Amino acid sequence: MNFLEERIKKDGIVKEGNILKVDSFLNHQMDIELFNEMGKEFQRRFEGKEINKILTIEASGIGIACIAAQYFHAPVVFAKKAKSINLDGDMYVAEVVSFTHKNVNQVIVSKKFLNKEDKVLIIDDFLANGCALQGLIQIVQEAGASVEGIGIAVEKGFQPGGHMIRNLGYQLESLAIIDGMDAETGTINFRKQG
Ligand code: G4P
Repeated sequence: MNFLEERIKKDGIVKEGNILKVDSFLNHQMDIELFNEMGKEFQRRFEGKEINKILTIEASGIGIACIAAQYFHAPVVFAKKAKSINLDGDMYVAEVVSFTHKNVNQVIVSKKFLNKEDKVLIIDDFLANGCALQGLIQIVQEAGASVEGIGIAVEKGFQPGGHMIRNLGYQLESLAIIDGMDAETGTINFRKQG
């Protein structure tokens, strides 16, 4: 088990409905030393890639992206979520459906902060159905920039997002991939990674 899997095993709580609570170290209270290890691991996994920008989405992606960014010496841009906005042409916009929250958000990034020269690493905390990621990829494409890689903390491997994104040909690196979990016993099965 790697450091993140160990931490999930120790402090993660499996809830009914296939939800993993990690709010004591990842998406409410944040363990910065853990984030730092995650940043180093992303650097190792994306070694050799030319990355000049990190893109994430509010809220929980921001902390992870900021700590990781120190290893890439790149600025972080976070996509903002909005219920409905007046589009003035200065923004890239994608629609993101949340299955968890059962709503639709518009996700926006100012055109000032993403352009065709950018080589982007996308970072986020969870990958489940992949809707948020699809929205971010769409925004990068609209900007004419390139997605050099995608770094995720926790992938729920039993939901379709990871498969879909890998099938599109992206280098997707998830530090922990959960293939199954059981709320009754608290068991979490991690996918073996090379
Ligand atoms: P998707 O983006 O992969 O399609 O996932 P989905 O719509 O199913 O998830 C919506 C939100 O719920 C996302 O955060 C996602 O990170 C989070 N999520 C999904 N499964 C789990 C889980 O098992 N545990 C936890 N803790 N979160 C999960 P969000 O709404 O964008 O929230 P935030 O970043 O503002 O905190």
